Amino acid sequence: MSEESTGTGTGTGTGAVRRDRFSGGPARGFLSSLAGDARIFDADLAVDRAHVVMLAEQAIITDDVAGEILAALDDVEAAGHDALSDGEDVHEAIETAVIERVGAEGGKMHTARSRNDEVAACLRYRLREDLLNAAETTLRLRDVLADEASAHTETLMPGYTHLQPAQPTTVAHYLLSYESAVARDTERLLDAYARVNESPLGAAAFAGTPFDVDRERTAELLGFDAVLENSMDAVSARDFLVEATSALATHAVTLSGLAEDLVVFANKGYVDLADDYSSTSSIMPQKKNPDTLELVRSVAGDAVGGLSALLTTLKGLPRAYNRDLQNAHPHAFDAVDSVVEATDVAAGAVATATWEEDALRQAADEGFSTATGVADQLAMAGIPFRTAHEILAEAAAAVEDAGTGTPDVATLDAVTADVLGASLFEHVSREAVEAALDPTASVASRDSAGGPAPDAVARALTAVERDLEADAGTVDDARGRLADAHETLETEVTTYV
Ligand code: ARG
Repeated sequence: MSEESTGTGTGTGTGAVRRDRFSGGPARGFLSSLAGDARIFDADLAVDRAHVVMLAEQAIITDDVAGEILAALDDVEAAGHDALSDGEDVHEAIETAVIERVGAEGGKMHTARSRNDEVAACLRYRLREDLLNAAETTLRLRDVLADEASAHTETLMPGYTHLQPAQPTTVAHYLLSYESAVARDTERLLDAYARVNESPLGAAAFAGTPFDVDRERTAELLGFDAVLENSMDAVSARDFLVEATSALATHAVTLSGLAEDLVVFANKGYVDLADDYSSTSSIMPQKKNPDTLELVRSVAGDAVGGLSALLTTLKGLPRAYNRDLQNAHPHAFDAVDSVVEATDVAAGAVATATWEEDALRQAADEGFSTATGVADQLAMAGIPFRTAHEILAEAAAAVEDAGTGTPDVATLDAVTADVLGASLFEHVSREAVEAALDPTASVASRDSAGGPAPDAVARALTAVERDLEADAGTVDDARGRLADAHETLETEVTTYV
């Protein structure tokens, strides 16, 4: 007998599904997912309960049998996952445990379903909770980034391209750049949630069932927002795992960039990480190392590897169910665990770090990073930007040869005369040039939407707060709907027990 039948196992031998013939032999451990299924133990109990309630409502089983099965499920729940007898998976083990308690009638629990729709429902049920947690963790990180940003709207720092000093900016502008990225990560997690939260139950093995099941009802009792219509798709589909893992891997890649920056900034003395988020050397007592952030950086490798393993497992699988699928979902769950932890650690590290304002200020105009600002001044005076670029490039070369950092106004005037045959001050005032060379004024001048000027950053912070509130509301609503469904299911169950 296999899971395809909607049978009434006796619970003898090696469990409700396998019986003696398919005892598993030496491959038993290889076949079994029971240990990893601890993660979906609660989900399976909920799925069982909803299914049994629906079977009774549809008069497919009697209320009495439903009551006995539901009472047994309570008992199985109280005993916990570890008390399950050795089985092929949690679905079989719980069914075996129910049959042990109820007798053969307990086998009616598996009427009109298969482990195929059952496991798919359990995975979705559990993963949606995980995704809400993950989304909520990203909200915490965004909150920390915004908080730190609001404390540093005037804190100058060098901005880089190619890791070369490029233009002065502020710590707030830098931190909000990551807030924006993490905000999209939140959106991706919530997008994935919407497609995870659909019910495959009632699809049975893949081909539907002759029983008059109410698929909408089980979906409702489990808090699923929709029913996956096509029964073959419902059991085969694992793209929901791909979407979730991809959203997590994308977020892990965002985190890895933040972590890398902070490692580099710590190295330059721009940021001092709290001791709690640092480590030391077992031999070099003076060392304070950014180990936590290096580990955060490494989690992207795990998550991307997991996504790749998942996609590779799914590639080319024929319809409908294949046991390969048992090895697919652990990649998603592993990614959730490691990425959520990394997000939490990154948030803690940012919240407790000290930005070294003096060192940052000193570095803010290193490498003549105000050059673009001066070129902008010339362009505003009507000189084609490309010509202005040429003048500043010559000035940069001049100071590079002299090894003097930023050119003074006289040097700028000389190179302008060289290129244009006219004094710099025929085009711009001395004050404007001096302001462009000053990193504070340079930052303040770049007040375009989303730019680093403190005014622009203040506007961005207002928008961030609004978006954070909206996203927190979305997560709360989703949690509320799940809690309501949970309550409804519990109430329904008590009418039978
Ligand atoms: N443990 C299995 C899994 O995770 C449950 C489904 C078993 N179905 C089957 N047709 N063998 O996929």
